[in-house]
Amino acid sequence: MDSIEPSSLQSGERTPSCPQKGLLQPSDSSELVQECLQQFKVTKAQLQQIQASLLGSMEQALMGEVSPTSGVQMLPTYVESTPHGNEQGNFVVLELGASGASLRVLWVTLTGIKGQKVEPKSQDFVIPQEVVLGTGQQLFDFAAHCLFEFLDAHCVGNQGLQLGFSFSFPCHQTGLDRSTLISWTKGFRCSGVEGQDVVQLLRDAIQRQGAYNIDVVAVVNDTVGTMMACEPGAGPCEISLLVDTGTNACYMEEARHVAVLDEDRGRTCISVEWGSFSHDGALGPVLTSFDHALDHASLNPGAQRFEKMIGGLYLGELVRLVLVYLAQNRVLFGGYTSPALLSQGSILLEHVIEMEDPSTGLAYVHTILQDLGLSPKASDAELVQCVCAAVCSRAAQLCAAALAAVLSRLQRSREQQKLQIAVATGGRVLERHPRFHSILQEMVKLLASECDVSFIPSVDGGGRGVAMVTAVAARLANHRRLLEETLAPFRLSHEQLAAVQTQMREAMDKGLRREPSSLRMLPTYVRATPDGSERGDFLALDLGGTNFRVLLVRVAEGGVQIINQVYSIPECVAQGSGQQLFDHIVDCIVDFQEKQGLRGQSLPLGFTFSFPCKQLGLDQGILLNWTKGFNASDCEGQDVVFLLREAIRRRQAVELNVVAIVNDTVGTMMSCGYEDPQCEMGLIVGTGTNACYMEELRNVAGVAGDSGHMCINMEWGAFGDDGSLGMLSTCFDSRVDQASINPGKQRFEKMISGMYLGEIVRHILLNLTSLGVLFRGQQTQCLQTRDIFKTKFLSEIESDSLALRQVRAILEDLGLTLTLDDALIVLEVCQAVSRRAAQLCGAGVAAVVEKIRENRDLDELTVSVGVDGTLYKMHPHFARLVAATVRELAPRCVVTFLQSEDGSGKGAALVTAVACRLAQMARV
Ligand code: BG6
Ligand code: GLC
Ligand code: GLC
Repeated sequence: MDSIEPSSLQSGERTPSCPQKGLLQPSDSSELVQECLQQFKVTKAQLQQIQASLLGSMEQALMGEVSPTSGVQMLPTYVESTPHGNEQGNFVVLELGASGASLRVLWVTLTGIKGQKVEPKSQDFVIPQEVVLGTGQQLFDFAAHCLFEFLDAHCVGNQGLQLGFSFSFPCHQTGLDRSTLISWTKGFRCSGVEGQDVVQLLRDAIQRQGAYNIDVVAVVNDTVGTMMACEPGAGPCEISLLVDTGTNACYMEEARHVAVLDEDRGRTCISVEWGSFSHDGALGPVLTSFDHALDHASLNPGAQRFEKMIGGLYLGELVRLVLVYLAQNRVLFGGYTSPALLSQGSILLEHVIEMEDPSTGLAYVHTILQDLGLSPKASDAELVQCVCAAVCSRAAQLCAAALAAVLSRLQRSREQQKLQIAVATGGRVLERHPRFHSILQEMVKLLASECDVSFIPSVDGGGRGVAMVTAVAARLANHRRLLEETLAPFRLSHEQLAAVQTQMREAMDKGLRREPSSLRMLPTYVRATPDGSERGDFLALDLGGTNFRVLLVRVAEGGVQIINQVYSIPECVAQGSGQQLFDHIVDCIVDFQEKQGLRGQSLPLGFTFSFPCKQLGLDQGILLNWTKGFNASDCEGQDVVFLLREAIRRRQAVELNVVAIVNDTVGTMMSCGYEDPQCEMGLIVGTGTNACYMEELRNVAGVAGDSGHMCINMEWGAFGDDGSLGMLSTCFDSRVDQASINPGKQRFEKMISGMYLGEIVRHILLNLTSLGVLFRGQQTQCLQTRDIFKTKFLSEIESDSLALRQVRAILEDLGLTLTLDDALIVLEVCQAVSRRAAQLCGAGVAAVVEKIRENRDLDELTVSVGVDGTLYKMHPHFARLVAATVRELAPRCVVTFLQSEDGSGKGAALVTAVACRLAQMARV
């Protein structure tokens, strides 16, 4: 194996003249020395092997396959861009774990102006050993105590202090301010911290100390701080290398390569955590007996094997172990080992750096060894220098191999042949050990020859970098607060929902008594749900939902057969003249008859007409007012059946026998009731929303008779039109209402149904954009467009199976360009709006089923509700939320929701069938 000696070792500065065979020592000692130092020599092939193996481990971890024992960890840090340069403000930074058992507090001012720097104030505190190995609470209390001492000393006011927490241990981050410690490294071992969110532990400790009002806004690894603090000349610094007590690197990876993030755009900073690399095949050959001894005696045997060959915490210890070995074998100090030399940790990184100093090193060796109770001879001192050099050279070479692996990774992910890149460096080893630095640079050149690397020392360590991340996090936290404030009125409490239920109930009672009420409670003249004996062929029309349909319904022994065709009603027809609308309807019927070979047959027809009608009988319905975007003239106040018959008459040569007019809620209830006799309520949550149910006839004022039941069309969409929902209505609801064709009307419907939810969301998004929370504050033409945000997007966006990137794709199709954060916010807005809708709907259902229960004087009611409507059927969570709300508000009712499969046309046909049967009986 040919070992490599970086040329800087041979030329330039004076380097210790290390023993060659046969020199200085008697031959057996010299062999021992040789053999000992030889162990620290690494060949180029070995370094390349480590580089390749590390790269493999990095790529595996990116794909989500972390090897818990030997691999690197590749931890996302939630930092998505290098500094913009406009970050500003005052920040407190607390640094823990970067530099041995010390803790640092800094006061950092970011000016927001490139190149304009304010010197940070800082203070270091030594963490007592009993705290380093004590409980987590002790450690965090100590940190909070130091923090307050610093703030007191620097007379910093108590006004909304924002803190960045530099915590340099491997952590699973789930946000900029959420970070769970995976395991302690670098000599720390406080109990009860692993597996915990360290931000929360710090917040708790700050709270316990009281005194200052501090908001911990970000937690940052030291490598990330170093990268963020770097101010390179040309391009941004997208990689940083840290060698201090421990060692690690971070770099900007293409987000699409990071499996756990589920993100396909942009870059994200990954903390490599290469300290944990310990792949046997690669590291095995370079591990010495001293490395094994050091590992055995460490706090975390078996872990952080790579770090234990490079990190400053271990370099002194490795030197000490070699010296002990050589002394015990009588090669050093005349065979004498002092108690100090035998104690763990007696040679520190600082000592090693001093002893290796080319000009003053030898003198230092003497004093340092004397302090350890040893009396070195001149030859001893030279050999000690050689040991230091061997240990540190190897560390620098290994570090270079690791950095070369990261550079290769970067090159691959950027798909660049030649990578020109600036590496930010930090940590005491790199700052104070010039030889380490030069070996590193040279080896990197050798191992990553295709990269043009410049090393840029990060000036004020992590302080400024951490403050940068904190500034970004503070902005995001502010956005979150604004988002929460915006959405708060949509989050209804149990009390609010119970109040809606009570109000609904009162409005129902008043409506039934014909007293002023926003609920019209319209009698439908449907007195019974189907009994299964209905038979015959019927035509049905279904007008008022998303689709206009003409149907042929065959009710026979074996079940119901349906043939239907969808026709469109152009907006100009829906909002044109009544005559146009009804002529169009008849045209569609004629077309259907022709296609189905029904010409000339006068089948009984049931008309599902889903608008509020005052019925005077089964085949007479006076349209009270249009809803849901219909506004055909000369219809309100008219009998719809009459208007249809008139249109039939105008169309001559068509025979149609209109028997019944039915609201879609009623059609749905009847349709589901055909399968389940317990179905006594119909519910629609589609373009509009409404409900009907079977009421005791005695409770229905204005309809003759005291026994039996009658189905009541509640027209609950208008609930609250008397202002009673004012407390719940948000400014967004008002905007949607004001822009609609029926302002002030259908206020409940406008908070629930498909025609309006997308618009509510759009108005919220507009508002969040103007607050700067969304789309970087840039208003887009697209979002200003009415109805651009369809309610079906809510269903799609909220679908659990959908990744955020798909959410973004949906929104991008609308012409919006958004970040991952934007996509998350849009998702939250959709969730808040649809959740409120489902809960309000649930409160309504609860009021109805409770009324049915009370009507019948039952302790418990078992009832089914037939439901239809696109929103209810397509939204991934709506149905569940409605049911949950009903369970909460009407605990004494067991409610089953049945989704109508065939639309309400089938129900209209069934109503018609019953009417025909009754008419026939009357004739007989
Ligand atoms: C349909 C019914 O399935 O649902 C219609 O047949 C009803 O009568 C409609 O109006 C309601 O849902 P949407 O989403 O179409 O308005
Ligand atoms: C250790 C830590 C890592 C840190 C490094 C340098 O390896 O696990 O998070 O970046 O030391 O301080
Ligand atoms: C509207 C109509 C109502 C219908 C509901 C569902 O609220 O006024 O009659 O039932 O929409 O389509």
